Amino acid sequence: MDVTGKVAIVTGAASGMGAATARALARRGATVVIVDRNAEGAGAIAHEIETATPVVGDVASSAFCDGVVADTMETHGRLDVLVNAAGVIVRAPAHVTSDDEWRRIFSVNVDGVFYMSRAAVPAMLEGGGGAIVNFGSIWGDVGSGGHAAYAATKGAVHQLTRSMALQHAREGIRVNAVCPGEIDTPMLVSERPAPPTPDELEAIAESVPMGRLGRPDEVAAVVAFLASDEASYMTGALVAVDAGYLAR
Ligand SMILES: NC(=O)c1ccc[n+]([C@@H]2O[C@H](COP(=O)([O-])OP(=O)(O)OC[C@H]3O[C@@H](n4cnc5c(N)ncnc54)[C@H](O)[C@@H]3O)[C@@H](O)[C@H]2O)c1
Repeated sequence: MDVTGKVAIVTGAASGMGAATARALARRGATVVIVDRNAEGAGAIAHEIETATPVVGDVASSAFCDGVVADTMETHGRLDVLVNAAGVIVRAPAHVTSDDEWRRIFSVNVDGVFYMSRAAVPAMLEGGGGAIVNFGSIWGDVGSGGHAAYAATKGAVHQLTRSMALQHAREGIRVNAVCPGEIDTPMLVSERPAPPTPDELEAIAESVPMGRLGRPDEVAAVVAFLASDEASYMTGALVAVDAGYLAR
């Protein structure tokens, strides 16, 4: 899983699986650009990695996304890897999801992936190819009544992944997605009426076939593989990293 010499942009890299991915890519030799709207978190991860650069902004803005790619090309001269990990969640059934919640989650989870990927493709083609890794979800595959908008955004990410993979299959750009299950990140406990109790967390873990939550680095290792040349015959794949959740 060597990515030495590659230049990688990772969105959502201030926290959770994006941060774990930034660490994994840097450890394997990549130069990483950390993109997040959380300035403090982005700065902290960049400081920890040392060779990484933080860029603060909102992936729901196409101008910001175009600028991130343009600045990366100006600074590093190439773009080999894009990881779209930035995401938000709304925990509500469809009939009580507001217009604002619906638009907000689509603007980050879908528009953000689209804007970053659209900007990345010409830059990757300039260098002869590249790899895009999106963050889908188990809920992009199976439904979740209590997370209707979230599941809809992840379904959209899965189809964007497949469609872009087909479009660029002969041009050296591979487009894949990881579909995490229940992973222990700030998102797992966010946007709830109250923080989950230990019993509630245990119940979430029990809902997983392996009987435990996943660690961010367990997903990051798969992302690093998909980003590396060792995954050279993989494109359009939705790779479940879910301890068997989707096997049922
Ligand atoms: N945690 C899980 O169980 C789980 C399961 C399946 C999929 N996912 C997906 O994995 C990805 C990473 O999630 P995580 O669990 O690590 O969450 P997290 O909340 O720890 O990290 C998400 C990061 O995205 C950033 N972000 C949010 N909106 C942004 C915006 N508009 N512009 C720039 N940055 C923005 C946040 O600041 C944060 O740093 C997300 O796409 C999420 O939907 C998570």
